[in-house]
Amino acid sequence: PIIYAITPTFARPVQKAELTRLSQTFLHLPNFHWIVVEDAVTKTTLVTRFLEESGLIYTHLAAMTPPNYKLGRNDPNWKKPRGVEQRNAALRWLRENLRPTDRGVVFFADDDNTYSIKLFHEMEKIQRVGVWPVGLVGGLMVEKPICDNVTSKVIGFNAVWKPDRPFPLDMAGFAINLRLLLENKDAMFSYEVQGGYQESEILSQIVTRNELEPLADCCTKVYVWHTRTEPPQLNVEQLLIKKGKRSNVGIEV
Ligand code: UGA
Ligand code: MN
Repeated sequence: PIIYAITPTFARPVQKAELTRLSQTFLHLPNFHWIVVEDAVTKTTLVTRFLEESGLIYTHLAAMTPPNYKLGRNDPNWKKPRGVEQRNAALRWLRENLRPTDRGVVFFADDDNTYSIKLFHEMEKIQRVGVWPVGLVGGLMVEKPICDNVTSKVIGFNAVWKPDRPFPLDMAGFAINLRLLLENKDAMFSYEVQGGYQESEILSQIVTRNELEPLADCCTKVYVWHTRTEPPQLNVEQLLIKKGKRSNVGIEV
């Protein structure tokens, strides 16, 4: 199967660094298609050029989050969901451009997480929906499905943050067989759900908890981490800008 990774991304000082880290993981994978969706009205030259030079097979889209759903400068990040518009645009692209006979697995790869290439080897086994542990998320060292050793079935989740969610796992903790997304062509993300329910929203339209396929050695291995990048201190740059100067004249950072 081809692994389709859907990455929402938005302009900020660390954007190119994040995309570079991601792309250089993905370059290790033979059957990979990156769907990068900018949170912008139109595609930027930075991301356009970046993808052209990346050496990856990719699709580049733009889908702006409506202003009323965008986080304010000082809003805590749980206040509004991120990535809804962009992931839905990518799902639409898949449904419009792929055929029922195409074999693939679809994964939601946020631009700030850290991915082991081992994770993508696990995904190749997915019949319906595969799940696995995610490191450093939900206030825990690892948030994971609980896998029964004997039956190799998911019998619960260890999540402590909002454990009553239908699927209490992070966006990085599952991937979906393309066939299921093409069959359930209305399955999408939504603004009309509580914080932390995006994963449950899409999954409950596609599978039941019983059908989940535990991967990564019965969910005992961590191959993805919910890392978050600290915004850089650019106070000196701000001073320069006030004086009409900047450190990066003619240099893309
Ligand atoms: C957690 C989950 O890991 C996300 O998958 C989920 O979308 C998010 O919560 C949520 O509840 O909405 P977190 O690390 O807080 O993640 O989210 P971010 O990494 O800040 O954003 C997720 C993705 O959306 C990233 O790829 C980011 O680049 C993108 N994004 C973020 C935008 O496209 N526009 C924005 O304004 C902000
Ligand atoms: Mn993140």
